[in-house]
Amino acid sequence: MNSPQTVATATNTGDLPGITTIVVGASRGLGRGIARAFAGAGAPVVAVARTGPALAELATTSANIRTELADAADPAVARRLLDQYQPAVLILVAGANPVMRPLQHQTWETFSVNWHADVKIAFTWLREALLQPLRPGSRVVVISSGAAINGSPASGGYAGSKATQRFIAGYAQDESRRAGLGITVTAVMPRMSPSGDVGRRGIRAYAARTGQTEEAYLKQLGDVWTPEMAGSALVDLVRADPAVTAPGYLLTAAGLQKLP
Ligand SMILES: NC(=O)c1ccc[n+]([C@@H]2O[C@H](COP(=O)([O-])OP(=O)(O)OC[C@H]3O[C@@H](n4cnc5c(N)ncnc54)[C@H](OP(=O)(O)O)[C@@H]3O)[C@@H](O)[C@H]2O)c1
Repeated sequence: MNSPQTVATATNTGDLPGITTIVVGASRGLGRGIARAFAGAGAPVVAVARTGPALAELATTSANIRTELADAADPAVARRLLDQYQPAVLILVAGANPVMRPLQHQTWETFSVNWHADVKIAFTWLREALLQPLRPGSRVVVISSGAAINGSPASGGYAGSKATQRFIAGYAQDESRRAGLGITVTAVMPRMSPSGDVGRRGIRAYAARTGQTEEAYLKQLGDVWTPEMAGSALVDLVRADPAVTAPGYLLTAAGLQKLP
């Protein structure tokens, strides 16, 4: 088992058969890497997103992956898919691409985009996971962002929405404990990486804001996580004993580091 401090990336053997895993937001970027890693570890994966062709392509990569074309922000979708698949692992990755503009150039509509997507999706699925409830021993992972810790001045309400995701993951963990449900809820905060649209657009905007080329900005970020690394780290996270699992981890190229 991994130490509680660091869940490093590792080679995953197929030891998750029967561990049905729903990945919400699996058609590209980070979610696609997570879906592929769980399928590679032997888990039956249900990949959820709204873009049919991308999901169909993902399904060709593993016989362990089936797909559900759906809007994850719809509460009826969360209810139906949790009821139908009774997952042992639920990973909430889906979120909107923030509108990258200085504060004064945001409108309330652009500022609040991630509240109607990221926060609504986390709220909707966590609520349903507690109400159904998921079986004892189930694991839920909410993908928040490093921006939840450091802020992100060029992306409107993004950082605040990701901080709220972290808070409500904690609230859901408390409610599970209070009701003796045995569900473990963990928030994971990735640093910026060009491996998904959110990171790519962020790098472009912050490079422009600081007068650098995208290449130079990326270089100063140092090593960045890839979807493969992230997927492997998440597989290790759900394999780890819940008793030593922290409420939150930072995700970097070095894997997962426990947050205080
Ligand atoms: N990339 C980074 O550097 C970075 C850093 C920190 C945090 N994050 C977080 O990590 C997550 C993934 O980021 P990414 O860069 O991989 O983003 P991405 O490339 O834009 O992928 C987002 C995924 O979520 C799905 N999705 C979005 N809204 C959905 C909805 N309403 N219903 C179902 N699926 C939905 C998208 O599929 P469809 O459009 O097909 O539905 C897609 O599969 C986000 O929550 C982001 O905030 C990313």
